[in-house]
Amino acid sequence: MNKKIIIDTDPAMGTKGGDPEDCFAIMLAMNSPELEILGITTVQGNVPVERGYSNAKYLVTELNRDIPVHTGKPGTYDQDRNERRKWLSQRQEMEQINPLLDIDEDSKGAPKFIVETAQEHSGDLELVTIGPLTNIAQALDIDPALSKHINKITMMAGAATVQGNVTPAAEFNVWADPESASKVFNSGIPVRMVPLDVCHKTRFGREDLNKIGTNDHPFCKFVQEAVDPWLKINPNQAIVDQGLHLYDSLAMALCFMPDLAEYKNAFVSIETKGEYTDGETVCEFNESIMGQIFKPKPNSEVALDVDVEGFNKIFKERVIDFLVNL
Ligand code: BDR
Ligand code: CA
Repeated sequence: MNKKIIIDTDPAMGTKGGDPEDCFAIMLAMNSPELEILGITTVQGNVPVERGYSNAKYLVTELNRDIPVHTGKPGTYDQDRNERRKWLSQRQEMEQINPLLDIDEDSKGAPKFIVETAQEHSGDLELVTIGPLTNIAQALDIDPALSKHINKITMMAGAATVQGNVTPAAEFNVWADPESASKVFNSGIPVRMVPLDVCHKTRFGREDLNKIGTNDHPFCKFVQEAVDPWLKINPNQAIVDQGLHLYDSLAMALCFMPDLAEYKNAFVSIETKGEYTDGETVCEFNESIMGQIFKPKPNSEVALDVDVEGFNKIFKERVIDFLVNL
């Protein structure tokens, strides 16, 4: 039976210089028969919400998929945090390649869509979150019993035993809105956390990515245009030559092929008050610390190792080959 999912995402393919990775993850989901996508919800992160919404709508429309898209509101979960993350909503100067759509003020919005879909498909729904967790925290405010309806969240989030990628302590998706992440990890919904520990093990060759542009289909040209700056962003070309890290696509793959990774159970707490550590995912792996286990009941399974070749194969077949043959 297909796994029913909602994808919560901050897609930037379509905004010049934006991270194209979320859209690859969405395409991977679209081309995976193991999944049924009930909706896509967009959140402030890589780009402001109206851009993420426009980018998601463009992707769905160009690929002729009948998938509802709902947007969250600008801003973080906690208004005080918003002041400190202002730059996230200030990326208005970036050039928008595909049309910037108006947000329908009457639409139900992402958190309400998540709640209603979860209630309708109670016990038969998973979330895949590949951006900050603002919408999910707001959905928990609408229905505090949401954990009864959602089986699992597979999330690209955090850094368990390695450095962060925004600060030494924090990974972007958690750092962007730590209060929302804290609420979600404490919600009772089981989490499969896909942290930088495994994302940084992935290496996808740029020759394969460059194949997309060999297809003259306008959508492939659009994707290649989005990928080019990404290939150039790392000044160390020797690293780029070894291949690029895929974060969101790995999380997506682990939703339907969990055996590609190895996990350890942990209780994950989110640092929200640290001077240097805001957004850190503090993982207690249920191992005794000086004879004491602080949180014996885990809230997450944390991916710590991954079959990179197995993942690359799936990504190539379902994303690159799909685009090359469009
Ligand atoms: C995460 O941050 C975003 O830029 C990527 O899309 C990914 O979700 C990696 O830290
Ligand atoms: Ca993302």
